[in-house]
Amino acid sequence: MKKLSLLLISFLFIALAVNAQEFNYIGVKKCSMCHKTEKQGSQLSIWEKSKHANAYKVLQSAEADKIAADLGHTTKAAETEACLKCHATGYNVPEARLEKGFNIADGVQCETCHGAGKDYSPMKVMKDKQASIDAGLIVWADEAAIEAQCRTCHNEESPTYKEFNFAESYKLIEHNIPKE
Ligand code: HEC
Ligand code: HEC
Ligand code: HEC
Ligand code: HEC
Repeated sequence: MKKLSLLLISFLFIALAVNAQEFNYIGVKKCSMCHKTEKQGSQLSIWEKSKHANAYKVLQSAEADKIAADLGHTTKAAETEACLKCHATGYNVPEARLEKGFNIADGVQCETCHGAGKDYSPMKVMKDKQASIDAGLIVWADEAAIEAQCRTCHNEESPTYKEFNFAESYKLIEHNIPKE
C-alpha cells in the first residue's frame, strides 16, 4: 500500500512538472504583428488604450514610491516585488526566458493573461487551438474563470483597491476576434 501511494505521488510530481513547463516571453510587440488589424480584432490598439499598458509606468511615479514606502518597503515601487506582481510581466524569471524585444515597461501585457508565448506564437501553432494550448496558451473554461483571473490582481491586496465590477471592466478591455 505504501509503495502504491509513493508511486502515485511520484506520478503526480511528474504531471505537475510537465504542467509547469517554462516557456519564454516574447513581448507585446511580437504578438501584435498578427493581432492589430480591425479584421483580427484590433487587440493591439485596445490594449494600448487600456490602463494595463501603463501598469508598470505608473509604478515609476512619486505617488507609487510613497505608497510603497508607507507600506514599509525600502525599495522604489518599480523595484518592489510586492508591486511588480500585479503591475508587470516577466519580472521574476531568469533573463534567459525573456526574448529580445520583451520590455518590462509594457506592464500587464498579452502574455500576463495568455501565457508566455514563444512556443505558441508561430502561425502554424496558432492556427491549431490544441497545439497552442500544449505550447502554453492559457484558455478559460467560461466567464467565471475569466473573472477569477482578473481578480488575482483586482482585489483588496491592491493598495489603491477600487471596487471591481467584472462586467463593466471587461467591456473596457474586451478584444475578441470578430465573428465573420
Ligand atoms: C504569426 C502570427 C501570430 C503571432 C505572432 C501571434 N498570433 Fe495569436 N493568433 C494568430 C492567428 C492567425 C490566430 C487565429 C487562429 C484561428 O482563428 O484559428 C491566433 C489566435 C490567437 C488567440 C485565440 C486562440 C483561441 O482559439 O482561443 C489568442 C488568445 C492569441 N492568438 C494570442 C496571442 C498572443 C498572446 C501572442 C503573443 C504571445 C500571439 N497570439 C502571437 C496569429 C498569431
Ligand atoms: C487582462 C488580461 C488580458 C490581456 C492583457 C490581454 N488579453 Fe487577450 N483575452 C483575454 C481574455 C479574458 C479573452 C477572452 C477569452 C475567451 O472569451 O475565452 C481574450 C481574448 C483574446 C483573443 C481572442 C480569442 C477569441 O477566440 O476571440 C485574442 C486573439 C487575444 N485575446 C489576444 C491578445 C493580445 C494580442 C493581447 C496583447 C496586445 C491581449 N490579448 C491582451 C485576456 C487578456
Ligand atoms: C496581472 C494583474 C492584472 C490582471 C490579471 C488584470 N488586471 Fe486589470 N489592471 C491591473 C493594474 C495594475 C491596473 C492599473 C494600471 C494603472 O492604473 O496604470 C489595471 C487596470 C484595469 C482597468 C482600468 C481601471 C480604471 O481604474 O480605470 C480595467 C478596466 C481592468 N484593469 C480590467 C481588467 C479585466 C477585465 C481583467 C480580467 C480579464 C483584468 N483587468 C486583469 C492589473 C491586472
Ligand atoms: C494584488 C494586485 C496589486 C498589488 C500587489 C499592487 N497593485 Fe497597484 N494596482 C492594482 C490594480 C488592480 C490597480 C487599479 C486600481 C485598483 O483597483 O486598485 C492598481 C493601481 C495602482 C496605482 C494607480 C493609482 C490609482 O488610483 O489607480 C498605483 C500608483 C499603484 N497601483 C501602486 C502600487 C504600488 C506602489 C504597489 C506596491 C506597494 C502596488 N500598487 C501593488 C493592483 C495591485
